[in-house]
Amino acid sequence: MEGGAVPAPIQSMKGPGEDLFILGISGSPREMRSRTRMLLQWVLAGAAAAGAKTELIDLTSLRIEACTACESCSLTGACLNTDDFPFIYKRMIAAHGIVLGSPVYIDHVTGQMKVFIDRLADAIHYQTLAGKYGCAVATTWSSGGEEVISYLNHVLSYLGILALDGISVSTGDDSDSLFGAEERARNLGAMLTMAIRTQVQYPGQSAIIGENRAFFARIVEENREWRRDEYDEWVRKGWIT
Ligand SMILES: Cc1cc2nc3c(=O)[nH]c(=O)nc-3n(C[C@H](O)[C@H](O)[C@H](O)COP(=O)(O)O)c2cc1C
Repeated sequence: MEGGAVPAPIQSMKGPGEDLFILGISGSPREMRSRTRMLLQWVLAGAAAAGAKTELIDLTSLRIEACTACESCSLTGACLNTDDFPFIYKRMIAAHGIVLGSPVYIDHVTGQMKVFIDRLADAIHYQTLAGKYGCAVATTWSSGGEEVISYLNHVLSYLGILALDGISVSTGDDSDSLFGAEERARNLGAMLTMAIRTQVQYPGQSAIIGENRAFFARIVEENREWRRDEYDEWVRKGWIT
């Protein structure tokens, strides 16, 4: 991740009285026993202490079907699956900040997290979550933590979300290692809240997001006959000229 965060002009700051909502999404199947969930909860607790409203969603407690590549979303914006994905998506739209958490499963995110991410394809193509802030957390026995953080940051970037440096914890035989990360996790939540309030800019990340957007603009243009509202929205935002 890049270090050179640049504060935005003061007028784009969110005042302390304004509602600020941070959503955590956990991909562990172990729900309350999950170490990743615990890490995520500390991030959210740090955000709450800094004044944000928070919410945590366990993917495993919801029913999310795998994408079947039917292309319905591309044609209509609507998915043919009737499951709990729209509930999460609405919460993501409402959020100012999104924290993704996954344990490492065979050097990657869990299947639950990957199925969920695949369902975000339309949100990526149409950049419906762009401008938000986020970060990622992961736990592992020993390996793959940094790779999972890097992958989740990549997903956030694809979504047009600016990401703060995440936290990965290798627990191994040391049961204290997770608790050793509590302070860092709480600080991350506070920093995420502050980044949203001050609209911190990350020029390197914004450049990548801009390049991706130029690529996705082709899809939005190609689909403009049947997804006129989205096309008009891109024109209004100056993303298509
Ligand atoms: C199916 C499965 C695959 C795993 N793969 C890895 C792995 O590749 N590398 C590793 O170090 N730990 C691996 N682990 C261990 C978990 O990443 C680790 O226990 C993690 O902290 C569990 O997080 P949770 O408590 O949030 O579910 C695996 C565990 C399971 C169940």
